[in-house]
Amino acid sequence: MATVLDSIPSSAAGKAERLVDKHGRAITDLRISVTDRCNYRCVYCRTGTDGAVYAELPIEDYLRIARVFVSLGIEKIRLTGGEPLLRRGLTDLVRELSRLRTLHGGLLDLALTTNGHLLEEMAQPLRDAGLSRITVSMDAVDAEKFVRITRVPGSYERVLRGIRAAKAAGLAPVKVNCVLLRGFNEDQIAAFAQFSREEGVIVRFIEFMPLEEDRLWTLASVVSMKEIVEGLESYRPIVRMAPNAASETAVRYTFDDDVGEIGIIAPVTQAFCGHCSRVRLTSDGKIRTCLFSQSDHDLYGAMQRGGSDEDMVRFIRRTVEQKEARHHIGEPGFLKPSRSMVHIGG
Ligand code: 5AD
Ligand code: SF4
Repeated sequence: MATVLDSIPSSAAGKAERLVDKHGRAITDLRISVTDRCNYRCVYCRTGTDGAVYAELPIEDYLRIARVFVSLGIEKIRLTGGEPLLRRGLTDLVRELSRLRTLHGGLLDLALTTNGHLLEEMAQPLRDAGLSRITVSMDAVDAEKFVRITRVPGSYERVLRGIRAAKAAGLAPVKVNCVLLRGFNEDQIAAFAQFSREEGVIVRFIEFMPLEEDRLWTLASVVSMKEIVEGLESYRPIVRMAPNAASETAVRYTFDDDVGEIGIIAPVTQAFCGHCSRVRLTSDGKIRTCLFSQSDHDLYGAMQRGGSDEDMVRFIRRTVEQKEARHHIGEPGFLKPSRSMVHIGG
């Protein structure tokens, strides 16, 4: 793998024109799905019956694609899935990506989103390989409620151990993502507030989006930002925190005593498409310019046909140009995306 990286011109990031779409948004954030396999079957994501069609690229190919993106000014890479910790070679990928960071002046932020099931064993190796930050998905702080969502017995205790192992490995601050679903966990708002304060983790509530295989989504099933804020306030007075960056998707809160941090990500009721800085690579090497895209752009196909790095740069620029202005969730005529979250990658 070293040979791939050794061919990078170290000045590439500085020289290339940055990626900008036709709406004037700078694209600085790349999410790479490294597998579409998952060991959970969360009710809001997958039925688990899609079985057969798993598509992954060799680790070296994700690396080559990442290198080209970084040469175009990508500042943040998040590895996702499916469940990325299932992917063989993941720590090697993290190690090589973190080498990319040093070649580009330490600008690259390297993060990963996991369901936490295998994290207890993997946290330290990932940290040692150079991972900067980690986000763990956890939808209830109650074993029974959690298992009703993930549909895997024993998952709650494992994820909790995973979160603690990540903290111990120095992957702080650990972020915990919670998707609130009416009828499953909407009563968990105060419990998560307390969890954030006691465990020293950042909890982020995400509004449920229509991205699941089962197609259960209705506007009524979404627990809105307004409802979440009310739930927090009835637990303890909250204080709004300043945004970290203009493209930040979470509205952040702490409590009146400065202990704990809660973010609310409200793609449904407070869409943030106007300052979206993201582009995604599916596990089979296709670019998706929006979670709600109706089609993919087959970068890997172009690469396999013998495309040079320059060809890939042109392909990426052309694709990013066409990025959708915004999603149309909840509007009449809304079309569900062509793939569900487990295939697109969070
Ligand atoms: N709506 C909102 N969030 C979702 N996630 C997965 N599916 C959905 C959905 N339909 C979340 C996961 C994970 C992150 C990558 O995306 O829980 O935390
Ligand atoms: Fe759950 Fe994430 Fe797996 Fe989907 S990909 S089933 S949300 S753990």
